[in-house]
Amino acid sequence: MAQEVRGVIAPGKDEPVRIETVVVPDPGPGEAVVRVQACGVCHTDLHYKQGGINDDFPFLLGHEAAGVVESVGDDVTDVAPGDFVILNWRAVCGNCRACLRGRPWYCFDTHNARQKMTLTDGTELSPALGIGAFAEKTLVAAGQCTKVDPAVAPEAAGLLGCGVMAGIGAAINTGNVGRGDSVAVIGCGGVGDAAIAGSRLAGAAKIIAVDIDDRKLETARSMGATHTVNSRTADPVEAIRDLTGGFGADVVIEAVGRPETYRQAFYARDLAGTVVLVGVPTPDMKIELPLLDVFGRGGSLKSSWYGDCLPSRDFPMLIDLHLQGRLDLGAFVTETIALDEVEKAFERMHRGDVLRSVVVL
Ligand SMILES: NC(=O)c1ccc[n+]([C@@H]2O[C@H](COP(=O)([O-])OP(=O)(O)OC[C@H]3O[C@@H](n4cnc5c(N)ncnc54)[C@H](O)[C@@H]3O)[C@@H](O)[C@H]2O)c1
Ligand SMILES: [Zn+2]
Ligand SMILES: [Zn+2]
Repeated sequence: MAQEVRGVIAPGKDEPVRIETVVVPDPGPGEAVVRVQACGVCHTDLHYKQGGINDDFPFLLGHEAAGVVESVGDDVTDVAPGDFVILNWRAVCGNCRACLRGRPWYCFDTHNARQKMTLTDGTELSPALGIGAFAEKTLVAAGQCTKVDPAVAPEAAGLLGCGVMAGIGAAINTGNVGRGDSVAVIGCGGVGDAAIAGSRLAGAAKIIAVDIDDRKLETARSMGATHTVNSRTADPVEAIRDLTGGFGADVVIEAVGRPETYRQAFYARDLAGTVVLVGVPTPDMKIELPLLDVFGRGGSLKSSWYGDCLPSRDFPMLIDLHLQGRLDLGAFVTETIALDEVEKAFERMHRGDVLRSVVVL
């Protein structure tokens, strides 16, 4: 029997979100229904609401979630009812060219549920990133459920489902930050701060946080930044070079997604260094660089989707580090809110007042 639950819908471009009754089908083959316990408000949810991702309205928003598996389809064996899981948007297929070459963290054909969740009038919903977890329950592909130690608080665990994983992974997976490295992170929201925390975990010796907001720089310090630069008042490229013996950082992580900050990242890295773009640009953005500088500085220019994570490998490991006190996921949770406060949370995010608002159900 399909069930009716409450969920947060983005009805149309730039319209305020609202709570509607969502019909959640029983899980079919390869699917699971999850009772959502917590779901963070990510910048990407706002992008969906603004029509910045695509026009497949209405969206069922929310995708940074943790919860308990309620029921699974007949053939599902990896997870079972009662399992505590983090939802992921990288349920690897096992068959695409990336998976077949042993690089599943790049999987090009990730799974989502086949059945659709709908409104009560039958209107099909597009779940954000194939998840849709600003809802009491959601239907996902079973591979989107990653089992982790249930000792962790759901509001902290869920954040690994998107932004925090994207930031930590940008540092440790994509940027390959290692012991003794110097790292600069431009943009210290939830994603940039996670890149800072990831760099600290990986043993970086110097971690330089860059932002235009002093409040963000203060939090960045508590996450592990050893130096901070307000790029409204100081030239960040010069400041990063000054802090690294005049050379630039080994790894520069861009967590804003704008041409000017990408250019800063490009010039703030040492010769043979690495730039990692994790901020998401919009289609109108362009950047022009002297090709000789691209060549002459060597190293690598990379982008990072979801921190190049493999959920089955990375989520349980990071939860274990959290439970051991080596990674404070709770520090990313600025506030917990109710399902009907998502619109307000978007405004607070826009003003830069929060790292993460997390809906708790
Ligand atoms: N690649 C991925 O897989 C992935 C996943 C999640 C989010 N993201 C993207 O990462 C980016 C950051 O997400 P977030 O949740 O941390 O957002 P956020 O809004 O919380 O943080 C952005 C930060 O950048 C700072 N900033 C803005 N303009 C700046 C400038 N010119 N110079 C320096 N700092 C500046 C802001 O003050 C803020 O602290 C977004 O573009 C988001 O869409 C990417
Ligand atoms: Zn694949
Ligand atoms: Zn997200």
